[in-house]
Amino acid sequence: MGERVDISKVPVRKLYTGAVMPAVGLGTFGSDKYTSEQVSEAVFGAVSAGYRMLDCASVYQNEDQIGKVLDRLFSEKIVSREELFITSKVWNDQHREVKKACKKSLSDLKLSYIDLYFVHWPFPNYHAPGCDGDSRNPDSKPFSVDEFMDTWRQCEELVDEGLVKAIGMSNMTVSKLEKVLPLCRIKPAALEMECHPSFQQQELFGYAISHRIVPIGFCPIGSPSRPERDRTAEDVADTELEEVVAVAKNHNIHPAVVCLKWAVQRGLCPIPFSVKESQYISNLKCTTEDPLTDEEMLLLSKADKNCRLVKGQVFLWPGAEDWTQLWD
Ligand SMILES: NC(=O)c1ccc[n+]([C@@H]2O[C@H](COP(=O)([O-])OP(=O)(O)OC[C@H]3O[C@@H](n4cnc5c(N)ncnc54)[C@H](OP(=O)(O)O)[C@@H]3O)[C@@H](O)[C@H]2O)c1
Repeated sequence: MGERVDISKVPVRKLYTGAVMPAVGLGTFGSDKYTSEQVSEAVFGAVSAGYRMLDCASVYQNEDQIGKVLDRLFSEKIVSREELFITSKVWNDQHREVKKACKKSLSDLKLSYIDLYFVHWPFPNYHAPGCDGDSRNPDSKPFSVDEFMDTWRQCEELVDEGLVKAIGMSNMTVSKLEKVLPLCRIKPAALEMECHPSFQQQELFGYAISHRIVPIGFCPIGSPSRPERDRTAEDVADTELEEVVAVAKNHNIHPAVVCLKWAVQRGLCPIPFSVKESQYISNLKCTTEDPLTDEEMLLLSKADKNCRLVKGQVFLWPGAEDWTQLWD
């Protein structure tokens, strides 16, 4: 058994539902680089080391493997179901059959409920996993409030039926939230959004906080292992930003860990991915010790380059000009 992190020292976030979750979770998207066996082994190791929050999704194609590991964690009494906070997400091709999608995730994960269930993207636009960045699905359409609300109503029913404890939105913008929030019978408890020092999304972050929606930050380290097809020449590497490197030197820590300390101290809940034990342990442990100073937080707040990495270009509709149209 490796190192254990004192979970009582990890900061927490409280949802408006009253549920409490740790302020850092484990991402589970292995991308093209890591197999579902590697990811699920990391889930076992990470939970054994103290992680209590897992960010899952059906499109990551590993919920069945993670389910086997959860079963083992429960049967070996390493952790109980109630101690874990588990998310999942409905993929774009299942917006018309959300209950079916949720039940499949529940059965794969071998759970009777999910703590937080997201609409992964606010469009039903689908692309084949691993497809090339320039491919377009002829059925893709721009954002529609009516279509989104139809999907959200189905999510609200999942709460009514107890299949999920809370629901959330992902990959939204302030303008889309302003249109849909007044229509929600059950408000989103959390918002999953891309967030790292070179892409701070201050307006969206502030909007979420002011509406009592917990912001969860994906790609918190700037996703250094993302596939080639998701890279462009303009992308900035967060771990090479001069502000991040300077703070890392002050604390004698890896720049990746600076990104996570910054996120947690800012009020975000980052969900870093790693299958490497020393990395995932330091990603959790860093929230329990040696905080950044106010001066360092201020310095990092100035590192923003408005550098969106997950541009979503594969979800564009035929005739759309470029990916910025997805983010109005
Ligand atoms: N809602 C959405 O649409 C959405 C979109 C994207 C991601 N997500 C979620 O967010 C999670 C995280 O995003 P991500 O995996 O793209 O990016 P990330 O967490 O920013 O980057 C992960 C990579 O950072 C490196 N790393 C991790 N810890 C490190 C450490 N302590 N020191 C040095 N390097 C470290 C590892 O690289 P090596 O592999 O090279 O070691 C790892 O593969 C995903 O797994 C997924 O759960 C959600």
